[in-house]
Amino acid sequence: MSVTVRVPAKVNVQLAVGAARPDGFHDLANVFLAVGLYDEVTVTAADELRITCTGPDAGQVPLDRTNLAARAALALAERYGREADVHLHIAKDIPVAGGMAGGSADGAGALLACDALWGTGASREELLDICAELGSDVPFSLVGGAALGTGRGEQLTELEVGGTFHWVFAMASRGLSTPAVFREFDRLGEGRDIPEPVASRELIDALAKGDADALAATVSNDLQPAALSLFPELADTLAAGRAAGAPATLVSGSGPTTAFLARDAEGAEAVADALRASGTCRAVRTASGPVPGATVI
Ligand code: C5P
Repeated sequence: MSVTVRVPAKVNVQLAVGAARPDGFHDLANVFLAVGLYDEVTVTAADELRITCTGPDAGQVPLDRTNLAARAALALAERYGREADVHLHIAKDIPVAGGMAGGSADGAGALLACDALWGTGASREELLDICAELGSDVPFSLVGGAALGTGRGEQLTELEVGGTFHWVFAMASRGLSTPAVFREFDRLGEGRDIPEPVASRELIDALAKGDADALAATVSNDLQPAALSLFPELADTLAAGRAAGAPATLVSGSGPTTAFLARDAEGAEAVADALRASGTCRAVRTASGPVPGATVI
């Protein structure tokens, strides 16, 4: 018997970052939007824990117990006093090390799939607790839709969204490490007063109205200067999207995937074509959101 769970990628429409905390994490006001690019995690009973992965970036995915999908299976098994004796297969479509929560998606997907396969009957709160232990973005991968993440991003308040937003994502030629981007944020901010991160009221209203122009006027990412500092060529991709008329251009999370908001599906296709022709990125995809979080299919 096996269970397959489909889990979306995310884009951060606002990422406000505070100063480094004593534990090394940063307090955030992190507005997540789940978008329709998916990984699928299939869990099958096996003699022992093993992982396989297919997809364009599969070669970059660790197939050992550091993989968040394996860690999720082990965490749930430990809580319910059983062996994590499963084969986890990840059909990967979310870019690896891209700032779109691909690893977090696999963690949330494996957790939900193992829960269903084993019939643990874990409550939603228990699953969310395990997600928060696995990583700051993992709870959102389970919940999906749109949400404000506070604390280190793991404390979620679901947000209302009044329409569909159309996006273009440009995948970069290499990945960026999230801890390295946060360290660069700290380095760039040295000697400066870093304000407390606060969610933008205008941005939350724009989401609630489903108003792409209002959202475009309010998107922001405090990690963008750090990502650009470590990966200066991303400025060329952002400029190509801006020249193609995208109402908003930004780095997704810690990058290096760049995100372009369009007014509608046709606008997104036009920006995608221009980005493909620009030669400033490895691949281009369109996707819209919000979409639901991890779902058994
Ligand atoms: O929570 P997660 O394991 O995904 O975080 C990866 C790394 O990103 C952390 O080790 C930390 O360096 C950085 N991070 C941070 N502040 C956050 C979230 C992540 O500094 N709120």
